[in-house]
Amino acid sequence: MKYSEKVMDHFTNPRNVGEIENADGVGVVGNAKCGDIMKMYLKIDENDVITDCKFKTFGCGAAIATSSMATELVKGHTVSEALSLTNSAVVEALDGLPAIKVHCSVLAEEAIKSAVADYYNKIGRPIDFDYDPDHDDDHDHHVDED
Ligand code: FES
Repeated sequence: MKYSEKVMDHFTNPRNVGEIENADGVGVVGNAKCGDIMKMYLKIDENDVITDCKFKTFGCGAAIATSSMATELVKGHTVSEALSLTNSAVVEALDGLPAIKVHCSVLAEEAIKSAVADYYNKIGRPIDFDYDPDHDDDHDHHVDED
């Protein structure tokens, strides 16, 4: 298994690590199979623009690299742009991931969505997008409605 230079770079030198005090949205997702956990913090201004984004990942190298890349991809963008970020776009931005590591990138996509869902809950905006708050499977992408 070989990782791209970009994956190695984001793994050894991850961007935007940490937490944001008084974040407008906080998302936590985990993968029950590997036990990895990703926490995502968003600071969002009155125009729905993500002005800051930080993460903490307790997980594998690919999970760290994908969360780092995901923060870079959403920072400075609107919330709706962030919601359209797919795990494949994150993988592409990292010049690929070995097939058995693609599920790690799903955590990054879900973490952003989970943080946006938290933001929507806070401001009383209905959650009009699909995401799985109890994501625990690599393949099954069902959506739990509450
Ligand atoms: Fe668990 Fe990568 S092995 S997220």
